[in-house]
Amino acid sequence: MKLFVTGGAGFIGSNFILYWMKKYPNDKIVNFDKLTYAGNLENLTAVSNNPNYYFVKGDICNKKEVEEGMDGSDIVVNFAAESHVDRSITDPSIFAKTNVLGTQVLLEVALKYKIARFHHISTDEVFGTLPLDSDEKFNEQTPKNPRSPYAATKAASDHLLNAYNITYGLNTTITNCSNNYGPYQFPEKLIPLAITNLLEGKKVPVYGDGKYVRDWLYVNDHCRAIDAVLKNGIVGEVYCVGGLNTDISNLEIVKKIIKILGKDEGSIEFVKDRPGHDRKYAVDWRKIKQELGWEPKHDMEFYLEETVKWYKNNSSWWKRLKKVVE
Ligand SMILES: NC(=O)c1ccc[n+]([C@@H]2O[C@H](COP(=O)([O-])OP(=O)(O)OC[C@H]3O[C@@H](n4cnc5c(N)ncnc54)[C@H](O)[C@@H]3O)[C@@H](O)[C@H]2O)c1
Repeated sequence: MKLFVTGGAGFIGSNFILYWMKKYPNDKIVNFDKLTYAGNLENLTAVSNNPNYYFVKGDICNKKEVEEGMDGSDIVVNFAAESHVDRSITDPSIFAKTNVLGTQVLLEVALKYKIARFHHISTDEVFGTLPLDSDEKFNEQTPKNPRSPYAATKAASDHLLNAYNITYGLNTTITNCSNNYGPYQFPEKLIPLAITNLLEGKKVPVYGDGKYVRDWLYVNDHCRAIDAVLKNGIVGEVYCVGGLNTDISNLEIVKKIIKILGKDEGSIEFVKDRPGHDRKYAVDWRKIKQELGWEPKHDMEFYLEETVKWYKNNSSWWKRLKKVVE
């Protein structure tokens, strides 16, 4: 089987390629990536000499490049996106281009090549926000209500998937997942930023009062969820993927990381809030559990320790990248 993986040099995409090549060594993978600031081929050093792995530098918005790269593939897994909410607030246009137009180009080419399955990675942010004190969770039936330019463009791409499935019969599936964390995450996102700042003896910026609640999914569990959907998911369906059963605020996460690293809470610096900051995301992941038998392997305490260990042991990986965000 040949997989066409877009955005495979990014955080989740590279974890997915490493996961897949280990589990299914006979499959071929084309990693199609534009190598924006977020793409890093160093993440894939372990497979770069594997004859079943091919890297193609290309832009999902460029139909000709996509046609050349996707030709002969059986499955498309679309990770490629502009993914950072803060960047979408300062420059929404690149988000509309990549996340919406790029996805449409991929769908058009997938249809032309009669791709057996087009799997799209989306986010719980398309569902909007929940009140802090509510027990409500997002599920597959929750109406879309995106509130940031990033979320709006991801919601639009989800709608395009649905349209290509219904209108043209393309075999699509979507996973709407919560915030991922783990190895190879660009150090602009909360968890790697907190860990690497603390390792460098710097303060950790926390937006507003820090009482923002997200669901957190360890990246390898996410890869296992995509695997489950590709193997046993029903075409045309959407699966919500989350990692937690109880709420945890951003501030509590930072405090946990501080504790793991033996630092003190004076390292926290409350900074001006993000405009339109969503209070709470919580994901009901019962469908993927009940229908596909997927669930996280470990709890967040375990995974946070693992993640801190990884950033401690791989400082040469993140030190260079931090210069890009500073
Ligand atoms: N990271 C999270 O917590 C999270 C949560 C939910 C959903 N998602 C979704 O998962 C996917 C992957 O997220 P990530 O965190 O790995 O993102 P990332 O920013 O780390 O990686 C994105 C990758 O896409 C590539 N890319 C960007 N524009 C491209 C283009 N025009 N053509 C080809 N490649 C392009 C980049 O070079 C990069 O390698 C995204 O679709 C994102 O919306 C992420």
